[in-house]
Amino acid sequence: MILLGVNVDHVATLRQARYRDEDTTFGGFVEPDPAQMAWLAEDAGADGVTMHIREDRRHVQVEDVQRYLEKKKTRLNLEVSLEAKMVELALSLKPESVCLVPENRKEVTTEGGLDVAGNLERSREAVQAFTAAGIPTSMFIDPEVAQLEASAEIGSPWVELHTGSFARAWTVPGQSLPELDLLREGMKVGLGLGLRINAGHGINYKNVEGARTLDEIYEFNIGHSIISRSLTFGLQEAVQKMRSLLNP
Ligand code: PXP
Repeated sequence: MILLGVNVDHVATLRQARYRDEDTTFGGFVEPDPAQMAWLAEDAGADGVTMHIREDRRHVQVEDVQRYLEKKKTRLNLEVSLEAKMVELALSLKPESVCLVPENRKEVTTEGGLDVAGNLERSREAVQAFTAAGIPTSMFIDPEVAQLEASAEIGSPWVELHTGSFARAWTVPGQSLPELDLLREGMKVGLGLGLRINAGHGINYKNVEGARTLDEIYEFNIGHSIISRSLTFGLQEAVQKMRSLLNP
């Protein structure tokens, strides 16, 4: 069985679009609430929850994570960059696992995978710090042998394969198969190195048909499409409720 981790970053993105300048951008009257959505996702069967605290705090805030942790029912996979202050912050929040991701301030969402091979010592230091705290790490990488080998070498027990190229290729006839083959090869190389293989980015209700053929993936982390679908299918109730409140 492939596990599903639900990423609620985009709930926070929507909240920040309205409440960015409030003193308190979490809990209380502001909506939507990433912690509440994470609990709902858990009630609906999510195997885990992912939140990404970015250096610029553009979506998830530290308080969101703290609030979620107070009543979590599954486990938190916290995404952070390799920056020392982010590693320290992640250690202080004590998530069940950490996914180390690249961060580029201009990107809308995480674009490429982390260059572990090119940042070997920094990556090793971060992994060692989390390992010493009993927190397993996952390196978010492109499905390349050099990155897989580097991740294993620095002692990260898991990797998360970046599925963004596959997801983008899905809509172009003939282009997704080579991307899927790259992921399959990466999955096999990683398993051979003794790594646990997660995957994610850009997986949606259509391309999941191809993604699920990577059947040795332990867990897919999926965010945007799940949050989008919840908006689509939640709209009817939301309109009906507001109409009834306007006309009691
Ligand atoms: N995995 C990682 C490491 C990510 O950074 C993201 C995006 O925040 C995801 C998975 C989920 O991607 P998406 O929102 O496209 O499903």
